[in-house]
Amino acid sequence: MIPDTDPNSIVYLNGEYQRLADAKISVLDRGFIFGDGIYDVVPVYAGKPFRMAAHLARLQRNLKILRLETGFTTADWEALVTDMIKRSGLSNCVVYIQVSRGVAKRDHAFPLGVKPTIFCMVNPFTRPTAQQRDQGLSAVSATDIRWQRCDIKSTSLLANILARQQAVDSGVDEVIQFRDGLLTEGSACNIWMVKDGELLAPPLDEHILEGIRYRLLEELAVQQDIPFVARPIAQHEVDTADELMLTSATKEVLPIVIYNGQPVGGTGRPGPIYRRLQAAYDKLVEL
Ligand SMILES: Cc1ncc(COP(=O)(O)O)c(C=O)c1O
Repeated sequence: MIPDTDPNSIVYLNGEYQRLADAKISVLDRGFIFGDGIYDVVPVYAGKPFRMAAHLARLQRNLKILRLETGFTTADWEALVTDMIKRSGLSNCVVYIQVSRGVAKRDHAFPLGVKPTIFCMVNPFTRPTAQQRDQGLSAVSATDIRWQRCDIKSTSLLANILARQQAVDSGVDEVIQFRDGLLTEGSACNIWMVKDGELLAPPLDEHILEGIRYRLLEELAVQQDIPFVARPIAQHEVDTADELMLTSATKEVLPIVIYNGQPVGGTGRPGPIYRRLQAAYDKLVEL
């Protein structure tokens, strides 16, 4: 038994639907041996996948970068996600999709003629609590020690794991990472800053993941007449931010109110721009 999992939940593995407890892969799978794979996470509200097209476009983009040929069209991925949601019987849930390069003799170079391993599971989605939304989160700064292709949603997550553990060890909720003195992102989320009424985020490049909520928050900002600027953000600017927030599929939009032990914006309370964006986000997912 794997703690905190439902052994009877149905997962998809290489064309077959199986109980989680029965699904097995080879120890030679390159996902296991090398972390040679990519993944995506689609949130589902009331049985409806949210921004599925954007998630699947990112999945297909990542597969292409890694030259992983699944033979799945976007319509096939859509059908799989829809089917998995139905089989789960869950209303609010999270669909996890992973593709690794498959099973081969251990050698770094791409093996020839190997079929990728395709895996999908659905887990219950516990949305952020009222306390997290109303009282906010805490974060500390950290050096971004990750590689130069953080735009790839790779299953090689060691540096993200170390970053997340740094937050746990520091007794806070998240880390805010900096590379060469510039803001990148959290351990598993994008980071946003508000200064003088402007919403700021680092530009999309190879140092951050293009979160599906990156574009979405940009859209919501435009809709709400909040000026949005994507530009390099220096670490000292984050120290004096009026507001800080994070976004991810499972965290949605949450405020960071304590940063390096100091109250953000001098108040340590969620700010007005956060409140507007969060309300707009809620409206979208509850449609
Ligand atoms: C490193 C990193 N950045 C950003 C995000 C946010 O992406 P999304 O909004 O698609 O969940 C994630 C999500 O898991 C992530 O792992």
